Parts: sequence; C-alpha cells; structure tokens
Amino acid sequence: MYERKLELKKHRKKDSISEMIPSKLLRYASSLNLPQKKTIVITGGNSGIGFEVARYLCHFNWNVILAVRNMERGEKAKAALLEEFPNSRVEAWHFDASKSASIESFCKRIKATHLDIDVFYCNAGIYRTPFELGEHGIEQQAYTNFVSNYLLFRELKEYFLSLGHPIKWILTSSITARLQTWNDDDFHGGDKYHKGHAYARSKVAVNHLYLYLKDECQGTPITPLLVHPGITHTALINKAYHGRPFQLAIQSFMRTFFHSPTKAALCTLYLLQEKVSSPRFCGPRGIFHWTGYPTVYPLYLGNAKEYRHTIERLKDILAEKEKA
Ligand SMILES: NC(=O)c1ccc[n+]([C@@H]2O[C@H](COP(=O)([O-])OP(=O)(O)OC[C@H]3O[C@@H](n4cnc5c(N)ncnc54)[C@H](OP(=O)(O)O)[C@@H]3O)[C@@H](O)[C@H]2O)c1
Repeated sequence: MYERKLELKKHRKKDSISEMIPSKLLRYASSLNLPQKKTIVITGGNSGIGFEVARYLCHFNWNVILAVRNMERGEKAKAALLEEFPNSRVEAWHFDASKSASIESFCKRIKATHLDIDVFYCNAGIYRTPFELGEHGIEQQAYTNFVSNYLLFRELKEYFLSLGHPIKWILTSSITARLQTWNDDDFHGGDKYHKGHAYARSKVAVNHLYLYLKDECQGTPITPLLVHPGITHTALINKAYHGRPFQLAIQSFMRTFFHSPTKAALCTLYLLQEKVSSPRFCGPRGIFHWTGYPTVYPLYLGNAKEYRHTIERLKDILAEKEKA
C-alpha cells in the first residue's frame, strides 16, 4: 500500500495535477461523517478546489460527475481520480458555463439519463479576465460566474423537485465580494472596466442569487448553500497573471500565506454534512477568513438588500434576448 502511495505521488508530481490528501486533512474530512454513496455534479471539477472536492468524495465512495469545458482536461482529471481511487465512479461530461446552448444540453443530458443528483456544486469560475461581452451582452465574468448558475437552476429546478429527495445546491462566492457592490444597470461591464472589480462584482451577484434561491426554495427539498474557499493556491491566479512575470512573482510570494486547494475544499465538504439542512454560508475561520478550517458565518450583505431586483433584472434581460 505504502509503495503504491509513493508511486502515485511520483506520478502526480510529474503530472502536477494533485498530490495525495494529507492525512491531517483527511482526518478532518472523516470527522464530518459525510453520508456515503451520494452523487455530486461539480462544475469546473477538473482542477483546483473542485477537483480536490472530487478527490475527497471519491474517497468517501460518492459518484462524481465532473462538468468540464475541456474534455481532454476532464478525462485527465477523471483518470487521475480513478488511479487514486480505482473503485470510484467518476464521469466527465461536457459543460461550458459561458454558453447557454451548452448549459441547456448539459441539463438535457441530466434529465435524459435520470441522473439521481444529491448535490449540485456550482464551482466553475474565471478571474480577472480581459473585457469581453458574453451572451446577451453580459460581461463575461458576470456571465460565467453568476448568470450560468441562474440558468442551471432555472433548467433543473423542476427536475430536482421530481427526484423527491433532498438536494444541496452550492454556489461559490469569494471574500472579494466584500469589496464591491453589484449594479443592476451594469450587466454589460460598464465604461470603465476593471478586471478585478468585475470579478468581485460577479461574486456579489452570486451572493444575491443565493439570497434569492433561499426564498425560492423555501418549503422544497432543495437547500441552497454558499461557500467561499478563502484565498487558495490554484491555477486561477496563474491564468490571471499569465504573461505578467512581475505580478505573478508577487502573487507566488503572497501564496505562502494562502492555503492549498485540498484545505479549501473542506469548506465545501462541511456543507455536505447531513446536519447542514438549511441555507448556510461557509468559509475558512482564519484571520480575515483567508485560510483555515471551515466555519459558518453571516453573509456580508453590502447592497444585497436589492437581491430580488438583481434577479428580476436578469430575467428581463434573458427574456428580451430569448424573444428576439
Ligand atoms: N482560488 C481562490 O483563491 C478563490 C477564492 C475565492 C473563490 N474562488 C472560486 O472558486 C472556484 C474554483 O476556482 P479555483 O481557485 O479552483 O480555480 P481553477 O483551478 O481555475 O478552477 C476553475 C475551474 O472552472 C473551470 N471553468 C472556467 N470557465 C469555465 C467555463 N466557461 N465552463 C466550464 N468550466 C469553466 C476551469 O476549467 P479549465 O481548467 O478548463 O480552465 C476550472 O476547472 C471559482 O468559482 C473561483 O472564483 C477561488
């Protein structure tokens, strides 16, 4: 067994996809007593925090669907999971959060295959990307990080209700959401586009969606949940600073203060406990909530009082374009 672990570790380093789960973190995850043999869909599950959540859950015998935009990366992630957990059930399905047609066909596939989902984890996200208008004239970070989650929910809600058992619907926020507000008249990104601000705003909008779903799902078996993973070493930052060596070096230095995706994943696992059965916001408990083991705390509200208006405005934009 030990030799097999060493062999896997060598392979991981070569592949740089992940390393073995450190025993301290696995002990913490085991102490959560997660239910066994459930099914989770993880958008963007081929890397970073999503992939680490998948690893823990393979360890706990869950069925895992990695919803990925790049099938090659998805198959590679699936192979890595199967190598580490040969008896697990992992699939990679195509899903592109930036395209409504892909969201639609992904949801159709779920319904057609009667996939019995227990947890849907909206994890896919982009960070600090150059200005680009996505579908419906919506700025791309807002579309991928926020609007896609609304579209998924809209497509799947009735199907979830038809399953007749509890479903957890997890959205991914960020502490950067504390630094900005969302403007309902600015779905297109505004005149003075700032990559970092646009990312933070997209996460404020995710918070609004979470509050909206709390209302919408009351009295149903669907429990909306919100996670923020703290500040985590993942490819997200490398992608954002690609081609900017100075900023990348600063980020790499700062990472010594951040936590690993394997640790960040614990915040999501925390929400999967059976005792978490009503809406909750979970993140790391360390200083400024940057790193550490999970805790539950109140959502920073910012301008979230307007949350219903944000979603109503989004519905109008979608309806206008869908009619045209
Ligand atoms: N890292 C942090 O410090 C931090 C802090 C707060 C919140 N978060 C949030 O945590 C989530 C996971 O991020 P991460 O840090 O684990 O970064 P990551 O490793 O880059 O993971 C992001 C995942 O999303 C996928 N993705 C991006 N655009 C997509 C699209 N259009 N369709 C489908 N999948 C798409 C990526 O796929 P590819 O591999 O194909 O690019 C990747 O698998 C994100 O929502 C992020 O905003 C991260």
